[in-house]
Amino acid sequence: MPEALVERAREALDNAYVPYSEYTVGAALRTADGEVYVGCNIENANYSNSLHAEEVAVAEAVKNGHTEFDRLVVTSGARDGVTPCGMCRQTLAEFCDEDLPVVCDLGGDDVAEYTLGELLPNTISLDTLEAAAAKRDAEPDE
Ligand code: THU
Ligand code: ZN
Repeated sequence: MPEALVERAREALDNAYVPYSEYTVGAALRTADGEVYVGCNIENANYSNSLHAEEVAVAEAVKNGHTEFDRLVVTSGARDGVTPCGMCRQTLAEFCDEDLPVVCDLGGDDVAEYTLGELLPNTISLDTLEAAAAKRDAEPDE
């Protein structure tokens, strides 16, 4: 039997709105205190406004006051081990540590598991901006 978080991500596929790609994606994000927020992709006729499943899950969790997470599952209707795209990796990196497990559904009980740091090394973060501000303060003329 797949882990419960995989089941939650698969259930989220039912609400995907994908008239353009017909490629459903579901995400289940677990908070540090054990709650689960799910998301699905929601496409748009202008294409670029399409929301990704992971963004929807993050938004739902943050909207409800959660900013610490310990596990993410991503699935597609194709059960092809889809991973979060670059944009979603960056969105996740705002709130999640490099060691966040990102579990990608390969169907049945099979998954591919990565860490967020493997998927997005050397990203820009709040630390980057704070370090740059400190450097400006220390060396104002450079
Ligand atoms: N998609 C996601 O929901 N998450 C990703 O990170 C990868 C792509 C969606 C966007 C679009 O609705 C469909 O998958 C095909 O790209
Ligand atoms: Zn994405």
